[in-house]
Amino acid sequence: MNKFDVVVIGAGAAGLFCAAEAGKRGRSVAVLDHAKKIGRKILMSGGGRCNFTNMYASHENFLCNNPHFCKSALSRYTQWDFISLVAEYGIAYHEKTLGQLFCDESAADIVNLLVSECRKANVDITTRCEILNVSKTDEGFALSTSMGDYECESLVVATGGLSLPKLGATPFGYKLAEQFGLKVLPTRAGLVPFTLHEQDKTILAELSGVAIDTYATCNNTTFRENTLFTHRGLSGPAMLQISSYWQPGDTLHINASPTFDIAESLAEAQLKNPDSLITTWLSKHFPKRVAATFCELNHWENKPVKQLNSKEADAIAGFFEDWQIQPNGTEGYRTAEVTLGGVDTDELSSKTMMSKKVEQLFFIGEVVDVTGWLGGYNFQWAWSSGWAAAQYA
Ligand code: FDA
Repeated sequence: MNKFDVVVIGAGAAGLFCAAEAGKRGRSVAVLDHAKKIGRKILMSGGGRCNFTNMYASHENFLCNNPHFCKSALSRYTQWDFISLVAEYGIAYHEKTLGQLFCDESAADIVNLLVSECRKANVDITTRCEILNVSKTDEGFALSTSMGDYECESLVVATGGLSLPKLGATPFGYKLAEQFGLKVLPTRAGLVPFTLHEQDKTILAELSGVAIDTYATCNNTTFRENTLFTHRGLSGPAMLQISSYWQPGDTLHINASPTFDIAESLAEAQLKNPDSLITTWLSKHFPKRVAATFCELNHWENKPVKQLNSKEADAIAGFFEDWQIQPNGTEGYRTAEVTLGGVDTDELSSKTMMSKKVEQLFFIGEVVDVTGWLGGYNFQWAWSSGWAAAQYA
């Protein structure tokens, strides 16, 4: 029998950080993970450079059934706390854009930081460990696993969401929550590219690899970032961000001319270059391929701009200001960066992350119904929620 004060299930961002912090409080801590390697999502994140936090992180950057829930943890362990830790380890980093901080070298620096913190706190990490059964005892919890039996006073569930099943994602945390009578909100893929209906897909596939500056709007939320055309549909930061707000059947509104007045530009072209073709005029603002493909998409005859009547001119300007497109779905968990939904925050204390129903049962990180925007927010939630639980586990 392996006896620990705290067992953490899941050696990802939240689990490792929580384990180290609980260990620093003098608790004996074991981390169990079924995967061969720890921190695999961290290693893959940020294109291998890990966008480990965001300088502007606040509760407003998160989706949750209770928008106030994440305030407490985020304000007690902030992005500046994690940035200090990164600096303490001498890890070089830079701001890429919009407050997003990335390692200069490699995401492995963040995994090494977490391992080192765990070592300092004498945390015992076991990989390739299948959790077969979890039950409540008078003293805490009993776990039977493929690596033997464990007993602990506090159990922390940090098994993440469902995205990237090939990296070891499972619904374990949701099932365990349900086993203990906690409500789990429906899950769906977030920060995920859109797939398109066949007709749009065929035409827009011509633009595969092209990115344009956009405002993307859905369900009263707007992001100003790039939209990337791919051979499967629409991606890029604007689309990933808005995907978390999109529900099947919703229409996306894309403003493809955020920096210039397209109607004004067309009126000017009609005055100054009346013989220029629509595609020639559009090529002033967009890559050539975009101009041609958008003409095809809208069945615009590529004629000199002087031949456009006011209805046609309005239609062209209207399209670029508010291109409405209905995706036929998303790429799903296969490529999603996060999972929306999860353990209902009404079931947890926002201060401790402990279940209100079951003493000393904690849920942290992505398994909880707290999902950040693209840009380092999800890791900050892992650190903040992990830290909060570690003070009480
Ligand atoms: P995480 O998924 O990290 O860890 C869960 C752990 O639990 C895993 O080690 C898994 O093996 C283990 N586990 C699962 N089921 C188990 C079971 N049944 N038994 C035992 N162990 C089990 N975020 C961000 O802020 N900046 C970024 O740059 C990126 N980039 C990024 C890229 C890609 C490709 C993805 C998929 C995701 C991102 N993210 C991100 C999101 C970020 O990776 C994610 O939100 C955090 O890793 C969540 O941390 P957790 O510790 O909660 O789960």
